[in-house]
Amino acid sequence: MKPDDEYKDVEYWNARFLQEESYDWLVAFEDIECLLRKYVPIDRPLRILHIGCGNSTLSIQLKHFLHPESYICNQDFSEVLINKMRATYGEETGRFEWMVGDMTDLASSAFPPASFDIVIEKAALDALTVHTGDPWNPREEVREDVAKVMRGVAMLLRNDCESLFLSISFHQKHFRLKLLDDMEINFQITVQDIPHTKSLPHFLYICEKKKHQGTSAN
Ligand SMILES: C[S@@+](CC[C@H](N)C(=O)[O-])C[C@H]1O[C@@H](n2cnc3c(N)ncnc32)[C@H](O)[C@@H]1O
Repeated sequence: MKPDDEYKDVEYWNARFLQEESYDWLVAFEDIECLLRKYVPIDRPLRILHIGCGNSTLSIQLKHFLHPESYICNQDFSEVLINKMRATYGEETGRFEWMVGDMTDLASSAFPPASFDIVIEKAALDALTVHTGDPWNPREEVREDVAKVMRGVAMLLRNDCESLFLSISFHQKHFRLKLLDDMEINFQITVQDIPHTKSLPHFLYICEKKKHQGTSAN
């Protein structure tokens, strides 16, 4: 990735999405399908929020294996992208939607607390963490952005033991877990290696809300 902070900037992404039609960062759906099937139940309707969705095909493919009454909201802060994805893939109110939104400010989204079973992201947190400075001691701005995402996700997930935040990332385990450990968040985290990817190792971070936590952002 580039040596500055452009992956955090909506102007960078708007310009990129004007040119780019479809690109899957890190891994293709087929690389993670087995793991997703392990963690995403298909026997009941789910409400899923896909943050920093980009023009990846993740949720287009995901929706085919979900219970047919499930809902997926695809969110990204690039309006250019959201308009293009809506035009390409369409939407169906209450089933499959595209929405402009900032993942560092999920509290301002249209959704009430505890309204999703699963929040998922692929390489979107990486856009915030790729320029941490010293990876053992990330810059304060990076910590704050990641904390805002994690608190927003915790707020939007249901308060039951089955709700999950699934994060697909190339952020190495020791750095990601330390970063999250150092902040006060309500998640129990386990990590799965994503097998058979071409280049760098990639990981699925499975974040479960800790029991007996409320919907507050603390
Ligand atoms: C590296 S791309 C990953 C795109 C897609 N998830 C994929 O796997 O191919 C990062 C995505 O995060 C989005 N993004 C970056 N910062 C964001 C923010 N604060 N809120 C919402 N989306 C953001 C970008 O617009 C871009 O679509």
